[in-house]
Amino acid sequence: MTTQPVGIHDLSFATTHYALDHAVLAERLGVDVDKYYLGIGQEKMSVAAADEDIVTIAAAAARPILARHGTDDIRTVLLATESGVDQSKAAGLYLHSLIGLPNTARVVEIKQACYGGTAGLQFAAGLIARDPSQRVLVIATDIAKYELDSPGEPTQGAAAVAMLVSANPAILQLDPQSGLYSADIMDFWRPNYSTAAMVDGKTSVNAYQKAAQEAWTDYRRKGGRELTEFAAFCYHQPFTKMAYKAHRHLLESQGHTADAAEIDAAIKDTTLYNRTVGNSYTASLYLGLMSLLDHAGDLTDRALAFISYGSGSVAEFFSGTVQPGYAEHLRTDANRQAISTRETLDYKRYRELHEAHSPTDGMYHPTLEETSRPYRLSALSGHKRIYESR
Ligand code: HMG
Repeated sequence: MTTQPVGIHDLSFATTHYALDHAVLAERLGVDVDKYYLGIGQEKMSVAAADEDIVTIAAAAARPILARHGTDDIRTVLLATESGVDQSKAAGLYLHSLIGLPNTARVVEIKQACYGGTAGLQFAAGLIARDPSQRVLVIATDIAKYELDSPGEPTQGAAAVAMLVSANPAILQLDPQSGLYSADIMDFWRPNYSTAAMVDGKTSVNAYQKAAQEAWTDYRRKGGRELTEFAAFCYHQPFTKMAYKAHRHLLESQGHTADAAEIDAAIKDTTLYNRTVGNSYTASLYLGLMSLLDHAGDLTDRALAFISYGSGSVAEFFSGTVQPGYAEHLRTDANRQAISTRETLDYKRYRELHEAHSPTDGMYHPTLEETSRPYRLSALSGHKRIYESR
């Protein structure tokens, strides 16, 4: 049986209406701003307005893909998130009325911390291997929220990345090999009663590095490429410095003396969007890929490495080849615009938004009209979320 190549045919990104500058947080917390700009490698973070959530940003990310390719042959929609809006209904179902998903598609929500987007991509590849005429829409969408005044606070953020996965992809062909590592660990979690994540920061950084190394070892065992074959390494980026740390750790674990310029060449272009968007959990790795494709020189036929990590924990090391003509399919201007059009948030409004809680009484509660983006959560009524398109 001949198998057709499978991978990412199109990619689109959206983020929130607001951004908070780390200088504002540094002043508030009495911290040298270089701890953020240099120490963790973050300048800003996207913050959701009162009328935004993971559904509104997911819809904004997916809409351009449907506008370009239509909905024919999309038989599956996999939405990955760890900041879901309902314990039962898949968030992707709201997209039917917002962006016109086909009724002849299965729609499912996936959760495993920041790893969920990669699970979606790999499950999609499996479905397409079974029937190459089908396409799968994978959407990774998250709003990262930690307690105010906690060490995790500067590593918040928000974004959605939508990917059309198909046979004979235009942008990235996935390699068949993949390396896996799972372990039961309490480095980061969010109980059902909490809107903010709980985290053991130092444990999480170490767990990430160990899991990435173990996943790499498994990838090689499965016949994956050599480290030297990759043009760049796209890591999950809870903060951009983490990608640098993990890459240095990986190289050193393989006996390479890691030189700063070599690490920069492998990582830097993947961090430019994440540096200003912050942690977007499931979307973060794929935003790193978009940043790389938008900023690096010609990557045609070059191999890329992907290192996905979701606390709790699951890691996967996988790879792919950038396809000839890929640059014609990128959305570089739209990506830059999504970032540059964010409104700068002051500390007072940031805090109000952070402290706000959804009403639970089932009455009609219209939301404040804040976002300039194409979709908004307009109200909560009868315990239901009401969305609108502009
Ligand atoms: P912290 O204790 O505030 O920071 O926590 P620190 O004291 O470790 O400092 C951070 C870095 O800044 C250090 O550099 C300092 O030296 C440096 P390093 O030693 O690491 O190279 N620094 C400075 N640099 C320049 N000028 C200065 C200065 N001062 C200090 N003046 C921590 C940091 C990341 C732990 C915290 O923000 C946190 O808990 N974040 C949340 C957890 C997290 O992001 N973990 C990452 C791995 S787990 C993961 O990726 C999964 C996740 O995305 C969730 C999921 O899977 O769902 C989180």
